[in-house]
Amino acid sequence: MSRLFLTTAIDYANAKPHLGHAYEKVLTDTLARFARRTGQEVRFLSGLDEHGQKVQQSAGKAGKSPQEFVDGICTQFSDLWKTLKVEPDDFLRTTQARHKKLVGEVLEKLHRQGDIVKGTFKGFYSVRAEQFLTEKERQSDGSWPEIFGEVVELTEENYFFKLSKHQEWLRELIQKQPSLIFPEFRAKELLGALEKPLPDLCISRPKSRLAWGIPLPFDENQVTYVWFDALLNYVTGAGSGEGKLSDWEPAVHVIGKDILVPAHGIYWPCMLKALGLPMFAKLLVHGFWTRRSEKLSKSTGNVVDPEELAAKYGADAFRYYVLREMALGHDADFDEEALAARRKGELAHELGNLLQRTGSMIGRYREGKIPGVSQPDPVSEAFRDTVLHALRKWDELMKSYQIHLALGELWKAVQAANQLIEARAPWKLAKDPDKAGELDATLGDAAAALELVLLEVACVIPQTAEAGLIQLGYPGRPGPRQRSWPSWPTEQAGRSLGAITPLFPLLDEDKAARG
Ligand code: MSP
Repeated sequence: MSRLFLTTAIDYANAKPHLGHAYEKVLTDTLARFARRTGQEVRFLSGLDEHGQKVQQSAGKAGKSPQEFVDGICTQFSDLWKTLKVEPDDFLRTTQARHKKLVGEVLEKLHRQGDIVKGTFKGFYSVRAEQFLTEKERQSDGSWPEIFGEVVELTEENYFFKLSKHQEWLRELIQKQPSLIFPEFRAKELLGALEKPLPDLCISRPKSRLAWGIPLPFDENQVTYVWFDALLNYVTGAGSGEGKLSDWEPAVHVIGKDILVPAHGIYWPCMLKALGLPMFAKLLVHGFWTRRSEKLSKSTGNVVDPEELAAKYGADAFRYYVLREMALGHDADFDEEALAARRKGELAHELGNLLQRTGSMIGRYREGKIPGVSQPDPVSEAFRDTVLHALRKWDELMKSYQIHLALGELWKAVQAANQLIEARAPWKLAKDPDKAGELDATLGDAAAALELVLLEVACVIPQTAEAGLIQLGYPGRPGPRQRSWPSWPTEQAGRSLGAITPLFPLLDEDKAARG
């Protein structure tokens, strides 16, 4: 059985989760569920990035100790993952002992090897923001923006990780294996960044300036730079999750486009190389959600609260919307009306209704037992071909990370089943005893198509799929595919349906609109 180690970025524990965080975790959860369905053994790791300046500052503003503060944020994230059915096998917090121990060991090893050396850091420091500024932040007239207050030039003793020596090696690696990064245009972006000489990476901060971090084992006056600490979560959480270097396994890392260069595209491969560990398997880089084409930002009030959306539309409608709307790797604009429309159309009307009408007709005409189909007629054959074709396409597209298109293919099966019912009109067939075979075929085929679709779409809408399968009398929960997949299910015949209830009930506002 092949194994997949799948990770998300670990979110900064400095504010509550937003749409971007929710999308990434839903995406990774779906990939994990899909991989399990295709027979892979999966370890799915997620977590929180709890150290660093931002957290220390937010805690200060909230009048809490950093630990107390991150504990509160952690509850908010965990609650959201519970609501959204994001179910990692392990949830790592960088303040956990297992992680601090691993980071200490890594620092020690790299220091011993001569990959971490002492040096001086010189730069412009904002006293108000308590951070070093970069040239990017400087205004065109050479001054610094107002928000930074007084800016002074500062020299600090620090420790540096030797990045520069890996530049050539890394460039060659990405050139030879662009598939290490999805989508491939991101590999080009990374190669572009690798044209400029790489400076060594400053991986420590004096405690006097930043207390909230993992202490350097060889210098008690310094703590570890938050990115160096955060990236190592992937090693702590690998394998047994006990924080052993030897447990590392090449991961597929799901990340947003803002943290490819330099963190995951440069620092991380160089860290793995210096540690003598195998390279990651892939960086799966997703795009950014915007709203009204603008950045999601607390300061402008342009935020989208995933918890509220899940409460209003249901977790599965939220999951479906974000995965159907965004082409993985590209940006997308959030639109609540589009979410409501997809829920009402594709989910309630197309999928929900299909189960409702198929189930109620099986109830009415076949005493609630799924009819067997003795000899499929040409209509039946053609319908089955359409459904199986859609499933194969779905599979292919999911495996190439085109989830939005994959869902479109799966819905072709749903639409075909609705059309089959329209075309064969079981309510007419039921009046003619000579048409009993046709009636069986229609209802049996529709139920089988539903089962096939629900078993697959369970990775996207797990709660609905399970509820639907129970209504279809499916024994057990959705598990890995059978060897013969995709093939037409025959074991359905004679199975009793459960109680048929709407998968996506009308929302209050729809009821109001109906009057
Ligand atoms: N803590 C670092 C990651 C360390 S990983 C070793 C971090 N945290 S973050 O909270 O700022 O972002 C977490 C993830 O959310 C990142 O992958 C980031 O790209 C993603 N997103 C943040 N805003 C986003 C959108 N507006 N849209 C989609 N994803 C976004 O970076």
